[in-house]
Amino acid sequence: MQRLFPSRTAPVPSSHASEGAASAPEWSLEEIAAEYAYPPVGGGAEGAARWLRGNMVASLDGAIHHGGRSQPLSSPADMRIFGVLRALADVVVVGARTVRQEGYRPAKRRRAFADRRAAAGQPPAPVIAVVSAGLELDFSAPLFTEPAVPTLLITGGGAPPDRVERARQAGAEVVFAGEGGTADPARVPGLLADRGLRRQLTEGGPTLLGEFADAGVLDELCLSIAPRVVAGSAPRIMNGPVLPDPDAYALEGVLEEEGFLFTRYRRSRSVAE
Ligand SMILES: NC(=O)c1ccc[n+]([C@@H]2O[C@H](COP(=O)([O-])OP(=O)(O)OC[C@H]3O[C@@H](n4cnc5c(N)ncnc54)[C@H](OP(=O)(O)O)[C@@H]3O)[C@@H](O)[C@H]2O)c1
Repeated sequence: MQRLFPSRTAPVPSSHASEGAASAPEWSLEEIAAEYAYPPVGGGAEGAARWLRGNMVASLDGAIHHGGRSQPLSSPADMRIFGVLRALADVVVVGARTVRQEGYRPAKRRRAFADRRAAAGQPPAPVIAVVSAGLELDFSAPLFTEPAVPTLLITGGGAPPDRVERARQAGAEVVFAGEGGTADPARVPGLLADRGLRRQLTEGGPTLLGEFADAGVLDELCLSIAPRVVAGSAPRIMNGPVLPDPDAYALEGVLEEEGFLFTRYRRSRSVAE
């Protein structure tokens, strides 16, 4: 893997400093973790109260799945980065359709990150927080029965009470983000931060990610661009109402391996915020 941007201002991981791009050595997990470190969180002088990062992969032509799964667009480097982003996060927020479609399982405890997580006061694995209105989820699945830390369900106050009860019986903690039939995306990051889950990662899908962008709560976007073309009608990484004005993002970093680009953009706050 090689860093394409920033090319001069940031130090290249020391173990690679003398190596040319042609050899493109594999970065260690620690080096990837340093590249993707969250900004300080904790509020007050310590930094932001919380940080919501999105991570998505898209084909060259903008598709976010092939045959309903994102795996055909991924690569070993993409999966390494995906895993590190999870290992850095307190919580992984994901839409229920992605959970159903991709067969989500609990996040793994990873030995390589055990000390780092303990030192940061994090549980051994990130909490998975599923956003759902209908709560039509398989509560007998390992995501609910075998997590290292209990899975959260984020929904609206109008969620079907029998499904809420079923989720609780399965061991999930139910969080109501607003009183309506759906969760209010603007309130989700704050409710998670109230639980001490400040380093936030969302893995989409496009419906949920679009809602976070629309609500103005997405701080950062990590977008992997796969050198693949799939055509068809798969959605883009965000799918939903158009924003009144385009939101501006600043490029923070670009890594490359095997033609895959791993980009990282930070949302530029508008003067109004
Ligand atoms: N390429 C990538 O990086 C990537 C990443 C993730 C997913 N994907 C792909 O994206 C597809 C799924 O994405 P999607 O856009 O269709 O769905 P999604 O965003 O994963 O999930 C949509 C569902 O989330 C729940 N939801 C969303 N907003 C909500 C709110 N405000 N309140 C309550 N519930 C809310 C609803 O669940 P209920 O229906 O349960 O009410 C809704 O049907 C899959 O094919 C997956 O493979 C690709």
